[in-house]
Amino acid sequence: MPSKKRPRPRPRRRGVGQPPAMHPRNRYTESPPDFALLASLYPSLRPFVSSPSSSSSSSSRASIDWTDPAATRELSRVLLLHDHGVHWWIPDGQLCPTVPNRSNYIHWIEDLLASDLIPESSVSDGRVRGFDIGTGANCIYPLLGASLLGWSFVGSDVTDVALEWAKRNVESNPHLAELIEVRNANDSSSSVIDNTESLELESKKDCYCGPPILLGVVKDGESFDFCMCNPPFFESIEVAGLNPKTSCGGTAAEMVCSGGERAFITRIIKDSVSLKHSFRWFTSMVGRKVNLKFLVSKAHEVGASVVKTTEFVQGQTARWGLAWSFLPPTKKFIAASAQVKNHSSFMLEGLQRQIGAFQILKSVESFFIAIGASCKSDLSTFCVNVTISDEQTCNLSNSDVSNKSDCATNGISFRVSVFEQIPGTLLVKGSSLQKENLPSGLFSSLFSQLEEALKTEFVHKSP
Ligand SMILES: C[S@@+](CC[C@H](N)C(=O)[O-])C[C@H]1O[C@@H](n2cnc3c(N)ncnc32)[C@H](O)[C@@H]1O
Repeated sequence: MPSKKRPRPRPRRRGVGQPPAMHPRNRYTESPPDFALLASLYPSLRPFVSSPSSSSSSSSRASIDWTDPAATRELSRVLLLHDHGVHWWIPDGQLCPTVPNRSNYIHWIEDLLASDLIPESSVSDGRVRGFDIGTGANCIYPLLGASLLGWSFVGSDVTDVALEWAKRNVESNPHLAELIEVRNANDSSSSVIDNTESLELESKKDCYCGPPILLGVVKDGESFDFCMCNPPFFESIEVAGLNPKTSCGGTAAEMVCSGGERAFITRIIKDSVSLKHSFRWFTSMVGRKVNLKFLVSKAHEVGASVVKTTEFVQGQTARWGLAWSFLPPTKKFIAASAQVKNHSSFMLEGLQRQIGAFQILKSVESFFIAIGASCKSDLSTFCVNVTISDEQTCNLSNSDVSNKSDCATNGISFRVSVFEQIPGTLLVKGSSLQKENLPSGLFSSLFSQLEEALKTEFVHKSP
């Protein structure tokens, strides 16, 4: 969510060890939408496309105003039609999906299904079947999954407007209609969740008290290769920070549930225990890293045999994918779990609204300069490249008894990026810029010190 004062970031060049901004099979990875071309083909898009300004560099391209919901909706309509042959529309105010970003989640699920982390389904007839929890008026995941990969879906939702428009969007595409069923989760065989039976799994804070999600909505005898979910992320409309800067819109019914994503996904995890034989993979999008950690441990707690996560970078926002399964893991997964990590991250939450990525980045730079590193900042992408020389690496390692062995290593270089999640919450992420592994002790020690320094400077704890 970039602030109006700051320049819009250019497409990010990722360093070694960083996940790509887009999935490699995402059609927009190599060729992002060409707004000028699309506007020439679709007159309805023209009013929203501005030509490159004469003052900008020759590589500048036509652009759209991302803060205008009408512009982002028209762009999604055109991309779905032009690139996917899908006819689509949503009413004013409904959450507008960005097609390239939503495609990343679909491709990640495709990877999970193709991986040999868990055994192949023995009952599958080769047709992949998914369950999209909270498909929304936009019904984006079933439409993308069906048009890109021929998958069939049940898409569930609970609001009248979502159910009505999801059905309309399916019916507008007769070639996909057979593949997609829109299901009202309120018509479930189980009654509204009774809070009092919330197990140890859900503390009061994490307790979901809404309509059924999976249990009771999935019918007896049904089986799916996966479920997916872009949950109502927020606990309240205030936290959602729904303001004119948010181009994707979204009503309270779409964005908010009591307990937010943490409670919603905890409920999915709980349901998954009862439905462990009905799905190969359970997955969900997660908006906050602190929740990801919590949910990963919940999935382990209920006995998931495989838990996987990924990061989706969407412009200046990072989101995570969480997947778990109860099928017995293969050897490949056990080996992969032992891999070295070349990145580290933490959240800064409860920041005053005027504290943005810019201030944090400046402090990151000062922190590393103070320990003798050299820094190169790129304010347009909110990142700073940090290089610590051989000698300095050795000095730092010697000052930390736990890292003596790092002294034998060469200098290190890594990138620190700052992402705005929601107003008042930033993610700070460090990723290696070198081919060989970072000396993990030193890197994590530096990152913990940075976290502590930034929290001391910016996060005001309530008395
Ligand atoms: C953030 S929106 C996601 C919409 C769409 N999948 C997307 O990615 O743009 C969350 C959706 O979950 C729906 N929802 C909330 N509680 C639900 C439940 N118990 N079962 C199914 N859907 C639910 C909301 O109505 C809303 O449409």
